[in-house]
Amino acid sequence: MGTMTEFVKVIYGDKEFQLPLIVGTEGEKAIDISKLRQETGLITLDTGYANTGSCTSSITFMDGEKGILRYRGIPVEQLAENSSFIETAYLLINKRLPARQELTEFSVLLNDNSLVHEDMRDFFENFPRSSHPMGILSSMVNALRSFYPELHNPGEEINITVTRLLSKLRTLAAMSYKISRGHRVVYPRPDLTYGANFLNMMFDSPVRPYDLDEDVVNALNIFWILHADHEQNCSTSAVRMVGSARVTLYAAISAGIAALWGPLHGGANQAVIEMLSDIAANKNMKRAIERAKDKNDPFRLMGFGHRVYKTFDPRMKIMKKMCDTLLDKLKISDPLLDVAIELEQIALKDDYFIDHNLYPNVDFYSGIVMRAIGIPTNMFTVMFAIGRLPGWIAQWKESQDDPNWKLCRPRQIYTGPTETNYVPIGKR
Ligand code: CMC
Repeated sequence: MGTMTEFVKVIYGDKEFQLPLIVGTEGEKAIDISKLRQETGLITLDTGYANTGSCTSSITFMDGEKGILRYRGIPVEQLAENSSFIETAYLLINKRLPARQELTEFSVLLNDNSLVHEDMRDFFENFPRSSHPMGILSSMVNALRSFYPELHNPGEEINITVTRLLSKLRTLAAMSYKISRGHRVVYPRPDLTYGANFLNMMFDSPVRPYDLDEDVVNALNIFWILHADHEQNCSTSAVRMVGSARVTLYAAISAGIAALWGPLHGGANQAVIEMLSDIAANKNMKRAIERAKDKNDPFRLMGFGHRVYKTFDPRMKIMKKMCDTLLDKLKISDPLLDVAIELEQIALKDDYFIDHNLYPNVDFYSGIVMRAIGIPTNMFTVMFAIGRLPGWIAQWKESQDDPNWKLCRPRQIYTGPTETNYVPIGKR
């Protein structure tokens, strides 16, 4: 819990109530309404939860006005510059940076757990070829539960489940890609780092051995670090909410993957590339902007806007810089990058986007980075999911360890018919 120093007065009818004011370590304030209904009979209504804190958390701090993102207090810029994805995952899950020995042990454990039960391949083989990899991934993660049954020691169970998930999600993702192409599955190698192993499993083939490029591995690491956690976003809230029913970690993460798939959330990275490709092919940028501004048209500029960031998305700045460096290094000239830059320039000068505080978010340039690495478009959101996994695990763990944590069960204001008699079918 944050500290409690003041109260907020609520006057309802002829009564006055005092509600505690909770203050977080960065000075963020919240009214604690946990006794509101009990004391006043009222509930709060906050569609989309834009004003609702669902928990206290010591994992990630974001300031949407100042464009700040920190994991366990460390600015994401510093992590992107100096850390590896695995070290960042350790930080998120274990609350602190690992000592050298701890990091080595963590890497060894990840390695030891990187293989996937051979029978799981049958599953893969039987999904219709047109299945989206996010749907497959969500099902496979839930299915892991059946292949890796619970251990008897609860502490050990959690640590092993966490390591298994981190390691196997990456293997499953690469496997799904290989099988979808009808290619032989490439197994993980103990001599490769987490990211290098993933790239090798994705792209190595008997006829064309994959040449690992340190800059590509580094770009992938940064991509994953930037996605590693984002406090109570839609998929993380799904993980916490589903987890609150005390389901297994696998089931909670499977729910998170399903939520992330949506185009307003993680699915935006795929949607951005589809939108940029459409603009490039049909030369219809002006029309796209007009449509995005039209209240009667559901079309939105994908990769623009964010629920929390209202000045800029700090992840986007790092992603754009990394995108420029990577394309330069690989000597790639992607026409979609030109479209993206032009679109950004036009939108940033347009009153609609200025007035609505709409800026490019992390997904705006991430797809171009993924394309440069060779990741197919329908795998973009899977890449986001691998990156977000440590955050989901850390948030799930925090909620399970919280002595005040309850089953998530919001209320509602009912607006349907009042009591109505049943009419037999012949009389309707
Ligand atoms: N293009 C055009 N108009 C927009 C956009 C957009 N991308 N985003 C928001 N608006 C408008 C919206 O129409 C509304 O206008 P008005 O007030 O005139 O009715 C206003 O801005 C507020 O929109 P909202 O949907 O109430 O705002 P929100 O905070 O719920 O939306 C969002 C956040 C991310 C869902 C939204 O900005 C969006 O749909 N963006 C496009 C999808 C996208 O890029 N998602 C990735 C988010 S970052 C990755 C992640 O962490 O998930």
